[in-house]
Amino acid sequence: MDRLRCFGPSYSTLGFSSLLLPLFFFISNAAFNNLSTIPFNSAYSPLFGDGNLVRAPNGKGVRLLLDRFTGSGFISSNLYKHGFFSANIKLPSDYTAGICVAFYTSNGDIFEKSHDELDFEFLGNIEGKPWRFQTNLYGNGSTSRGREERYRLWFDPTKQFHRYSILWTAKNIIFYIDEVPIREVVRNDAMGGDYPSKPMSLYATIWDASNWATSGGKYKVNYKYAPFVAEFKDLALDGCPVDPIEQVPAASVCAEKDAHLDVQDYSVVTPERRRAMHKFRQNYMYYSYCYDMLRYPVSPPECVIIPSEKQRFKDTGRLKFGGSHRRQSRRRSRASATSSSSGASV
Ligand SMILES: *[C@@H]1O[C@H](CO)[C@@H](O)[C@H](O)[C@H]1NC(C)=O
Ligand SMILES: *[C@@H]1O[C@H](CO)[C@@H](O)[C@H](O)[C@H]1NC(C)=O
Repeated sequence: MDRLRCFGPSYSTLGFSSLLLPLFFFISNAAFNNLSTIPFNSAYSPLFGDGNLVRAPNGKGVRLLLDRFTGSGFISSNLYKHGFFSANIKLPSDYTAGICVAFYTSNGDIFEKSHDELDFEFLGNIEGKPWRFQTNLYGNGSTSRGREERYRLWFDPTKQFHRYSILWTAKNIIFYIDEVPIREVVRNDAMGGDYPSKPMSLYATIWDASNWATSGGKYKVNYKYAPFVAEFKDLALDGCPVDPIEQVPAASVCAEKDAHLDVQDYSVVTPERRRAMHKFRQNYMYYSYCYDMLRYPVSPPECVIIPSEKQRFKDTGRLKFGGSHRRQSRRRSRASATSSSSGASV
């Protein structure tokens, strides 16, 4: 089920221990103020691999399984024009090479040539090596202009649930892990249609990416360890629901909800959160399209070039030191309607 691409894995030789730096500089893992969660059945439905989607008895979440027959996924029953999309997620543990878990918003099923999309994509690893992840965005079918950033995590995402959130408003986009804003894209007129603007659904999927995510077939999904289980719970979804038939609503329809979103806790990047974001990016980001001068000799308009950050990166957008990430040319197109070029190699 090639609903999406994941980035290729980066099987660096970085030791696991070096990746789990102390957390002292991060703000608490507490949930956002006043976050109200929605039972799975009231806002989401299975997307594929229904037999591998296992609802929690309390109705608050699901487990998405990948076995040798299929992965699985779910989708929000509505499309939303702006919103806050969030879940507590626990990723599969042990040997997870070749596995992609994605949490993203998209409208690729409706707008085949001009879709919008906001992504969290997680890629598993061989035993003892940590998960990596990527964020990305597309607007109005800007699939030839990937905006990927890649990062390590400051914790082991297989041990506990952590909250992963995407905030999308008319003004900005913020990707959060727990309460740490890890990336903010402020809307900029020069972005034009590249800034997502049409209603999107929320998707979550787990699937086998080993046919492309590996180097010479070395790191395929190993079904000896199946089923692989990604858990999603305490789903939160707040936004302006939009009738898919109407597709593009009048701006006024969502004005009230937009105003509501603007005053929520998660819409406010406090100085403390901004500091945590800078620290995260200084310590855990290992690729940014903004610093990839080979790909973008002129940085895309929304890029905020921070000199102390930039000096850590080569002209390839990859780290100068500490990242023994092999250069891998690995492209993957979506086979589905959302087909797009996958951006840069890992
Ligand atoms: C939480 O919600 C209550 C009631 O809706 C409201 O009075 C309060 O100000 C909210 N707190 C925050 C921090 O937003
Ligand atoms: C989106 O792309 C289409 C062409 O695919 C173009 O006609 C339209 O003007 C674009 N919209 C925006 C907002 O840039």
